[in-house]
Amino acid sequence: MSNRTFTMIKPDATRNGNTGAILQMINAAGFRIVAMKMTRLSKEKAGEFYAVHAARPFYGELVDFMSSGPITAAILEKDNAVEEFRKLIGATNPAEAADGTIRKLFATSIGENAVHGSDSNENAVIEGDFFFSKLEQF
Ligand code: CMP
Repeated sequence: MSNRTFTMIKPDATRNGNTGAILQMINAAGFRIVAMKMTRLSKEKAGEFYAVHAARPFYGELVDFMSSGPITAAILEKDNAVEEFRKLIGATNPAEAADGTIRKLFATSIGENAVHGSDSNENAVIEGDFFFSKLEQF
């Protein structure tokens, strides 16, 4: 599974009408979408997904934001997917994101940063399984 990563197009990008443009960039960069759904996280589910950040000062804000509207969750396949996708999305803080990256183009702040990308192969599997049953992963 090391050729897979997990992403969410976050509520800010959904609200701003950027879902299609972001999916287009993902495909153009050579990722294959092997699972995808549009859904909305409850506060409880957003808290569970980001439980690793529970002790951070921004946790409450993160949970409120991530449950504030619909998201698109997807599992993506490409060689070296986790690292390649992190290059495509750019730094967490859009002010530090490289030109041409998804966050440089679509993120407005470190909190409202348009997309999530897994930070390791292990978390890619955990996060993909959070949203998709094995029957929904192609
Ligand atoms: P993401 O890649 O989804 O993983 C954790 C998220 O926490 C991160 O993107 C940011 O959206 C958010 N985050 C990280 N640092 C901060 C911060 N200092 N203030 C608000 N949100 C943050």
